[in-house]
Amino acid sequence: MQSPTRLSDRQAAIFVSVAVGIVVAVVTTATFWWIYSLTLGPERAAAAALLANPTRWSPSDGAKIITAAKPNTPTDGRKPWLGQTAWTDGVQAGQAWASAIQKPANAQVLTGLTTAEIWTYMVQYVAGGLGVSCQYCHDITNFAADTFPQKVAARNMMRMVKDLNTKFIGQLPNWRGNYIQCATCHNNTPLNHEAVAPQFIKSVPPIQVTVDPLDATGAPITDPALKPVAIRNQVALQDAVLYYIYNYQVWKPFDGTDGSGRGSLALTYTGGRTQDQVTINQNVMNNNAWALGVGCNFCHNSRNFMAFELNAAGPANNVVYGYNKLKAQVMLQMTTYIAQNWTTFGAIPKPAIPTALEGGASKFSYQTLNGQIYNVPGCFTCHGGVNVPLRSINQATIPPGSAGNVFLPPVLRGTP
Ligand code: HEC
Ligand code: HEC
Ligand code: HEC
Ligand code: HEC
Repeated sequence: MQSPTRLSDRQAAIFVSVAVGIVVAVVTTATFWWIYSLTLGPERAAAAALLANPTRWSPSDGAKIITAAKPNTPTDGRKPWLGQTAWTDGVQAGQAWASAIQKPANAQVLTGLTTAEIWTYMVQYVAGGLGVSCQYCHDITNFAADTFPQKVAARNMMRMVKDLNTKFIGQLPNWRGNYIQCATCHNNTPLNHEAVAPQFIKSVPPIQVTVDPLDATGAPITDPALKPVAIRNQVALQDAVLYYIYNYQVWKPFDGTDGSGRGSLALTYTGGRTQDQVTINQNVMNNNAWALGVGCNFCHNSRNFMAFELNAAGPANNVVYGYNKLKAQVMLQMTTYIAQNWTTFGAIPKPAIPTALEGGASKFSYQTLNGQIYNVPGCFTCHGGVNVPLRSINQATIPPGSAGNVFLPPVLRGTP
């Protein structure tokens, strides 16, 4: 006979297994948390810190970088473009040029401005935006001359800025009024811009995948012979992700009806998609989320990933879906447009992918286009972990009557 206070073997067994279960659960959670904090924790903390203290880019950020730098010693005929002396010489030479000729002698893109207005734009937003003094592009004894390839590159970049603002940014549904400018990508440095977030680099698994793109009707192409050469064979997952960022197409435009607004990344398809396609889609979505420092429900109602839930008013700060998925679709079309026209937008090709030691960005930031290696922008180049790029420019926030009032010349905003 057992005393009523003693546990039966059966009760003891239940007690022990529950206790063991709790210990295992605690240890597992702690282990996963530990692994998580070793891998993604610091980046997530950094992203949160950035979001908690967002500061808009200002032209003085770029000017400070130039004047604080040691003078450089170029070997290609250009004069030094870093250091206090370079800055003072350049700015003053430009001022003299602007007072000597009121109408610019060789403005092919910046039309409709006086030389003095161009000077203001150059000092603050071109030199400031790239973190280089005038000598990077100009022979400062003749500002009209196209002596150096960097000036020609910059002019083509201006054409691109005009194009992107006209064709994509100004067309965003429920647009907040921010335009792209030089600093949006350049972030006070002329070269080697990072295209993807550090969290993306750490989180994308090193596996090979088969890419089955969708055709113009939204049907998967599975026959290798019919696929674009770049994805005919298996590719690394990270390259598949970038393939979608740079080759995105909408095959059923959004018109407010159910099932519209469908593009290359749509998964719900009659007959389903392959496991590899689901993996690629998930990693493209991770790229979008990390680049903007947001979670999935910034763009999606997580009970219906396929839907576009337009809500102009939106909850506080428009932080939940309201137009964001549709905006992201326009952005994917924009990155595709950028990549497909990149060889004419001014960037100068590189002999090889630079390493981090040479001041290069991650290898994900370089693409081979027309057989040459280029640094190509991605979502992170502009967004830098924030939903509204801090280095974009909103004309409405500029006090009326501010010097010259040309901050982003109308022609680069797409305003005729
Ligand atoms: C990144 C390259 C770049 C930098 C740096 C730069 N500029 Fe320019 N600048 C240009 C380009 C390109 C044009 C021509 C724009 C066009 O064709 O519409 C131009 C035009 C000008 C003009 C008009 C010249 C004319 O009469 O046709 C002036 C003045 C000028 N820049 C001054 C400056 C000053 C001063 C600085 C330094 C504070 C500077 N620029 C820095 C690229 C640059
Ligand atoms: C969409 C992003 C983006 C915007 C906007 C942008 N650039 Fe660029 N630009 C780049 C990238 C990326 C490169 C290539 C850098 C490299 O090769 O390392 C580049 C290259 C250049 C170069 C050639 C530098 C060199 O020495 O090889 C110049 C000059 C330049 N940009 C000027 C400008 C000017 C001026 C503006 C504003 C009117 C501007 N860019 C706007 C992304 C951008
Ligand atoms: C910045 C906006 C944005 C973020 C953040 C985002 N997505 Fe998406 N997502 C999109 C867009 C745009 C599409 C539409 C793609 C298409 O049809 O080509 C999409 C499509 C999808 C689809 C396919 C839906 C269908 O039509 O079959 C799934 C599933 C999905 N996302 C999951 C996620 C997950 C999970 C996350 C978080 C890791 C996430 N998304 C984060 C913009 C976003
Ligand atoms: C050349 C710069 C640039 C690139 C590249 C870029 N964006 Fe943007 N994006 C912007 C600007 C500028 C805005 C702000 C527009 C506005 O004021 O409404 C914006 C806004 C957005 C918004 C709306 C945010 C909000 O809160 O209103 C989403 C979503 C977005 N981008 C997603 C993406 C995704 C995804 C990619 C990559 C596929 C991408 N962007 C690439 C410049 C860029």
